[in-house]
Amino acid sequence: DLLSTLWLACQAKKAVAPAMNQAMWADAATLANMDVLRQRGVTVLGPAAGEQACGDVGLGRMLEPTELADLAEAQFQGRALDGKRVLITAGPTREAIDPVRYISNHSSGKMGYALARAACDAGASVVLVSGPVALPCPEGVERVDVSSAQEMYDAVMQRVARTDLFIGCAAVADYRPAQAVEQKIKKNAETMQIELVRNPDIISAVAGAEKRPFTVGFAAETQDVISYARGKLERKNLDAIIANDVSDAGIGFNSDQNEVVLLAAGLEQALPRMGKQQLATTLIDRLAHCMAS
Ligand code: PMT
Repeated sequence: DLLSTLWLACQAKKAVAPAMNQAMWADAATLANMDVLRQRGVTVLGPAAGEQACGDVGLGRMLEPTELADLAEAQFQGRALDGKRVLITAGPTREAIDPVRYISNHSSGKMGYALARAACDAGASVVLVSGPVALPCPEGVERVDVSSAQEMYDAVMQRVARTDLFIGCAAVADYRPAQAVEQKIKKNAETMQIELVRNPDIISAVAGAEKRPFTVGFAAETQDVISYARGKLERKNLDAIIANDVSDAGIGFNSDQNEVVLLAAGLEQALPRMGKQQLATTLIDRLAHCMAS
């Protein structure tokens, strides 16, 4: 039809404004297709949540025409993070027990990699300090591979003075074995004990640096999510924190979707369940506003 042929032939920057029933929007086929469009550089405007023409309530409403007009106009202005240097941590860390065993967690890196891509799309130069994950590096992003929390700390602290925005999305192990044994441990005894010592707190060190970037953490919690996240915001001296309820298997660790609450001084903004890439784009936009205000 005219629209699809025009779309294929057109070399200009493209945007879509989805409008559909909430179940259609939540369907895996729609979410996968939206991810393909984003990967091809298409900007997605909306959808909004609320009452729908069919009587359902949820995500899928077209944005209001005036809002669409404003967002379309914004496409011709500078991007939210033009000229900014962004440093992001992603994935798990591995803490060696011996040459063949380690302590780690279920982080896949999906959320941190999505943030790196969104920050790059928003005009930033992005360094992604990544624990071991099975994801390709987003185009245009510089990736630094690390394994342990100490390596992640070193890679971050080397770069922190040259960073405008730091986002700590990695699931950093709080403890490591006191000694990483050089040879494989043999199973001679019925039980064994491993003494653990505290790892450095990377994000607290970033927030305490002399030349401090705008510092944003994640709080992965299974209960009292908002109050624990607020506690971390204050204790770690952060500018903002993203509260992530990881007790729900559909969001958080290794899922394709996520649902979070963005917290800062005087701000508590719930972001509904959506694909991690769409959430990352929304978060980067909100964080750029927080930085500017
Ligand atoms: O990778 P995915 O599978 O996509 O999953 C995403 C996620 C669930 C890992 C992500 O959304 C998330 O919540 N990341 C933070 C995980 C975490 O370790 O949270 P925490 O509440 O334990 O730590 C709070 C903050 O301190 C985090 O920003 C963390 O990066 C930072 N931290 C923690 C310990 C430490 N030694 N150094 C740190 O910098």
